Amino acid sequence: MAAKSAPNPLPDAGFSQLKSLVIERTGHFYYQDKDELLWERVRKRLRATGLRDPAQYLGLLNDSISGPAEWVRLEAEITIGETFFFRYAEQFAALRGAILPEIIERKRSERRLRIWSAGCATGAEPYSLAILVNELLGQDCANWRINIVGTDINEAFLEIARQARFGKWALRAIPPEDRTRYFLPLQREQWQLRPEFRSLVRFQRHNLMSLLDGTSPLQFTEFDLILCRNVLIYFHPDTVNRVVPALRDCLLQDGWLLLGHAEPSPTFSAMMQALSLPGTVAYRHRPPEEAALPVPEAPQVRAPPQPVLKPERSARAKSPPRLPPAPAKPAAVPPLPELATLPSQVRARADAGDFKAADDLCREALAADPLNPTLHFYHGLIAQALNRPGEAEQAFRKGIYLDKSFAMAHYHLGLLLLADGRHGPGRRSMTSAARIAAAMPGDRPLDEGDGLTAADLRELVRIHLDAAARSGRKG
Ligand SMILES: C[S@@+](CC[C@H](N)C(=O)[O-])C[C@H]1O[C@@H](n2cnc3c(N)ncnc32)[C@H](O)[C@@H]1O
Repeated sequence: MAAKSAPNPLPDAGFSQLKSLVIERTGHFYYQDKDELLWERVRKRLRATGLRDPAQYLGLLNDSISGPAEWVRLEAEITIGETFFFRYAEQFAALRGAILPEIIERKRSERRLRIWSAGCATGAEPYSLAILVNELLGQDCANWRINIVGTDINEAFLEIARQARFGKWALRAIPPEDRTRYFLPLQREQWQLRPEFRSLVRFQRHNLMSLLDGTSPLQFTEFDLILCRNVLIYFHPDTVNRVVPALRDCLLQDGWLLLGHAEPSPTFSAMMQALSLPGTVAYRHRPPEEAALPVPEAPQVRAPPQPVLKPERSARAKSPPRLPPAPAKPAAVPPLPELATLPSQVRARADAGDFKAADDLCREALAADPLNPTLHFYHGLIAQALNRPGEAEQAFRKGIYLDKSFAMAHYHLGLLLLADGRHGPGRRSMTSAARIAAAMPGDRPLDEGDGLTAADLRELVRIHLDAAARSGRKG
């Protein structure tokens, strides 16, 4: 084993102090029980600065002259920046089919759009939004004032984002035949985003924690849409409960907020209007009593391109196939399609916001293919969207019965049970999800997880179980 170049800091009071300061400044409660990992990262900065121990390093961080620049370097070391274009297909389907068309219609006279991607890492998220906006507005795009800002605490990520140059891993959810619509090929499998999309986005360093102490710049206001995805999973739930309303207050009335895949919490519904969309929840800056309003219908805009959705569970394909375009509002359930395409047909209807049609087709599909765990899983999600929790629970259970290793079904069942106050069974389902994920490589995307990796799921389970334990203690 290689000799360590710095002493083990764990019993060192300086290290505990440093850890508290890092968590307080960045929100990264994630490191609370990860001393080894944090130390590994801090040690790189000790080596680079030639300082001996955490106490000396604390001195540097607190120095009024050199401290701010060292914080920038440490923050770049401790943050995690996994991202890719059109991550979470359900959310991009909702953005394309309902949310952005609604905003565009409402702002048509003003012709001004303000969008914030908070915690944007290397830029794939705000650039995906730029592509959508550009495609939805078409020729009219030039007549609008479009301001998409990507922010992150990690300055090194922002530098990469400004280059707008990506490797094929970041483009993995874009079918190869579509790549040249958005990118210019460079050498060595690198792709340069086309200028018409790049020009819509600018980047700026911003710490989300500054929303809580009043130091956030004043221009972070009056947004039509904010995305803050896969950032808050690293934060303490109490911090999340303060950051989310602060983000809401940066929205215009009627503006939209999207969080990451499983970040929504029942407490947010008391702060905003929560809208259930297939596989995701969107929030609007509206009084919560208006929460029962339906998902807005997409007004007439230029026909959207096909949504990019994830691979079928059964196929476990390496590159995601494109699904047929989601109809804006299917009039009636059409004749049953081929068995293999049933789950994607169900999704397409749900993605269009027509849960009733999705529900009808899902039932027909299950009659034709009753042993398909993916169909039962979708049935569960649709039943939840239609506010039928009992039916959703049964559907998730059937999916699990047919495929015991279906991590996302265990997870959604766990969420449902915890929300229903059934803590014992909820914890068991969550633990099963975590155990299945623990048996996989951390970076493996989960089936029906829409980009969520095995490591992400384990972390989410931990956060939910901690929150459930705390609320159990309070109750
Ligand atoms: C996993 S990435 C998510 C990127 C993108 N939102 C997505 O979902 O694809 C999380 C990002 O949040 C940033 N981040 C972490 N803490 C932050 C904070 N306190 N303020 C702003 N950004 C932060 C990290 O630097 C990282 O780039």
